[in-house]
Order: sequence, then C-alpha cells, then structure tokens
Amino acid sequence: MKFPAEPFRIKVVEPIKSTTVTERKALIKKAGYNIFMLPADSIFIDLLTDSGTSAMSDNQWAGMMLGDESYAGSKNYYHFEETVRDIFGFQNVIPTHQGRVAENLLFSTIVKEGDVVPNNIHFDTTRANIEHQKAQAVNCVIDEALNPETLHPFKGNMDIGKLEAVIQKYGVQRIPLILLTITNNSGGGQPVSMANVKAVSAVAKKYNIPLFFDSCRFAENCYFIKEREEGYKNKSIIEIARELFSYGDGTTMSAKKDGLVNMGGFLAMNNDSLAQQITNMLILIEGFRTYGGLAGRDLEAIARGLKEVLDEDYLRFRIQQTDFLGQMLIEQGIPIIKPVGGHAVYIDAKRFLPHIPPHEFPGVALIVELYTRAGIRGVEIGSLMFGRNDPETGKTIAPELELVRLAIPRRVYTSMHMQYTSEALGEIYNDRKSLRGYQITYAPEMLRHFTAKLKPMN
Ligand code: F0G
Repeated sequence: MKFPAEPFRIKVVEPIKSTTVTERKALIKKAGYNIFMLPADSIFIDLLTDSGTSAMSDNQWAGMMLGDESYAGSKNYYHFEETVRDIFGFQNVIPTHQGRVAENLLFSTIVKEGDVVPNNIHFDTTRANIEHQKAQAVNCVIDEALNPETLHPFKGNMDIGKLEAVIQKYGVQRIPLILLTITNNSGGGQPVSMANVKAVSAVAKKYNIPLFFDSCRFAENCYFIKEREEGYKNKSIIEIARELFSYGDGTTMSAKKDGLVNMGGFLAMNNDSLAQQITNMLILIEGFRTYGGLAGRDLEAIARGLKEVLDEDYLRFRIQQTDFLGQMLIEQGIPIIKPVGGHAVYIDAKRFLPHIPPHEFPGVALIVELYTRAGIRGVEIGSLMFGRNDPETGKTIAPELELVRLAIPRRVYTSMHMQYTSEALGEIYNDRKSLRGYQITYAPEMLRHFTAKLKPMN
C-alpha cells in the first residue's frame, strides 16, 4: 500500500487556527526571525519537534484518572518502575520530569572537569550538559552519516575505530561513560544496528567503561532493526529492545518521545551505588524518588505509553508516515537526508539554498519562508544551533551539516497534513533563488538558537 493509513480513529479534535501571510510576516519579524519565539496558535502544522507533542490514547487518558498522588510510594510509580524494568531490564528506575534532567543528574554525578564523553552524535542538551561540567562531548558517528546522499541502513552507527581512537587519545581515566543515541537525532533520526550496539558494548567492556543509551526513540530504533537487520524479522519489538539494552549499563530517557506523553523522563541503571548517589541529588532538585518531578497520573501515562509504543501496527504507520513525507520531497527533487529517518525528515539546506553561505544561516532562511508562506514550523539544525563563534575572527565556525528538521508529532497529524507540507516545500523549492540569508543581532553563549534574534541580510 502506498498510503500509510492511520491505525487509529479520531475521538477528540483540537481545531487549528489559520492565519494569513501578512499576519505571519509581522509575527516572525516580531519574533526576531526565531521560530522558538512564535506564538504556537499562529502555526498551522507544527513540526518543530516530536517531543512532548504526542497525542495520548484513550487508554492513557483513562490511566490519568487513576493517578495516586501520594508523596511517597504512589502505586503509579510501581507500575512505571515495573514497565521500565520489563522493557529496559535495568533495575534502578529514577523518574525525572524530562530527559535533560536525567542527563544533568547522571553527568553531574560521574563527569568531572577535563573528562571526555563519546557518543554517535550528541544531542544539543546532552552536549550542553556535558560542557556544563567543563568536559568535552565528542561525536564518533560513522562517516556515512555525514553525507546526506549515502545510503546506509544504520547510519546512526558508532565508528568503532573513532571510539577506540578517542579512548587511546585521552586515556580510560578521562572517559567516565560512553553514550549511544538511539535513534541518532542530530544525524537525521537514523538507527543504530544491534551488531553495532554489540561492538560498542565490547569496547566498553574491554576498557571497563560504562555504556549508557540515550533512548528517547528506542522503539523506532528497534523497529528499524526488525525491518533491516538479519535475524530480527521474527522477533517482537520488546524482544529486540530487551536484547539491545542487555548490552549496556543504563539509560537516560526523555519519555516525551517514545513514552508517548507530553512530559516525563527517567534514568535507569544497574549500578546500585550510582543510583543511590543520583537519588540523593534527585531529591534536592526534582523530588522524592517515587515521583521525581512528575504527578502520579503522569507516571501512569508513561507506563501505558511505553507499552503502546511497542505495538507493531503503530510503529509501521509511524515509520511509513515519515517516509511518505520524505519520498514526496525526493520526487520533487528536494535534497533530504537519505534514507528517511524515524521521527523526522531532514532537508539539506546547504543544497536547497547553495547561494546562502553557512554564516548566513540557510536553514533559518528556509524555516522563515516555510512559516510565512504556509504556516508550517520546522527547526534549524545547523549553524545557528551548533555553530560556534571563533574567538579570533568573530565568525561562525559551521558544523558539518546544515539541516532543517521537520519532526512529526506522534499520532497527531494525518497523511493529508504531510501532503500539504510537501506541496508548500515544492513551491518554495521552485522559488528558492529569491530567498535571502540572515544575520544574528543577539545571541547568548549557550544553547543560543532558543533565544537568538536575527534579521534578514540586505
Ligand atoms: N536526547 C535526545 C536524543 C533528544 O532528542 C532530546 C530532546 C533529549 C535528549 C532531551 O530530552 O527534551 O525531554 O529534555 N529532543 C527534543 C527534540 C527537544 O526536539 O529533538 P528532553
């Protein structure tokens, strides 16, 4: 079947407001050409993120009514703990209100100044949390990941040679953990293969370094393994997940993605004394260990969401819907990262707008145009998000890729919304030569893309 039909029907609807091009032009100018500064009700299709934007099921909403809001020992915590243990296999389960707090708690406990943390590609909050400890975040993804056109079934894989080289260069003492992000968000939502997980795990064991997963999109990663890796066709998603996590020592998780909830996260690990230390910190900044910044009803929704996300009908639709949008763009000649990833389509802004150099932010130019023209919001993952100011020249040092991500919220938009998006991008592609670059007028030191202000080049 060509059309990925939604494996759910709509019981509750949320109207979306339409705005005019003139209104949107004024709004984006007022927002300093930063799409994070826009009022969300001026957006027709919001593809800013797949994080915290999922539609919950009737079963999850029903679970919300069973919230046990006891300060300590809520029954929803036990359901949540049992579910996480069942899927991930790690014995200590520490709830947090979202993924970056899990990162912060883990890194502030085990990462010291001068340390080095390898990952396939660090997500921005992961990198920022490591750098906040005055440590270094190093990317070790395979070279194929850096070429948008190269086809590889597991483009999120870690390059074992690069990982070994980092360990040799800095020494085991300076590497408190190895991270592996599944799927690799900043590299195009690309999966990591089971073979690669095993190989990374073998290196981690050889040097006695803990291996942690960044598991935000673990179910999507496991679905790709089932589809693409030999030996997994007849395994269920939960069996694949259990095997995958058995090769590591713990995980950070933003449940706002594959937990199918609007808020929540956790840390899980086997090391009891580390879990104890982190729990002490948790109580200081998030709350008691049986709620960690969440309400009992939130924990129930996560427990139910983690089970629903393993459903193969759901995952097939999910991956096909993303692919559906990607293929429509490819058919129009629009350059995107291939193959299409799990949660998002990544447009190669460098090739879409070759006349705009990286320091004039081609990704921003495309995003602003997509919003003004069609009311669609995407996000730049390029020089604005990851570029750094060279202290000597004052110019932006560009990252390897200039991307625009169209992240698809889970169970929220229909395939017709995807067709509308594709049509809008087709029109912009035809008029691409008329787009201009941008320059920064204000930017903070860290995570600048969230609050930077820009203006169009003359
Ligand atoms: N790790 C990865 C791979 C992520 O994609 C994110 C969030 C986090 C950690 C942090 O989780 O938001 O719950 O604190 N990614 C979102 C995105 C924000 O749009 O990709 P969080």
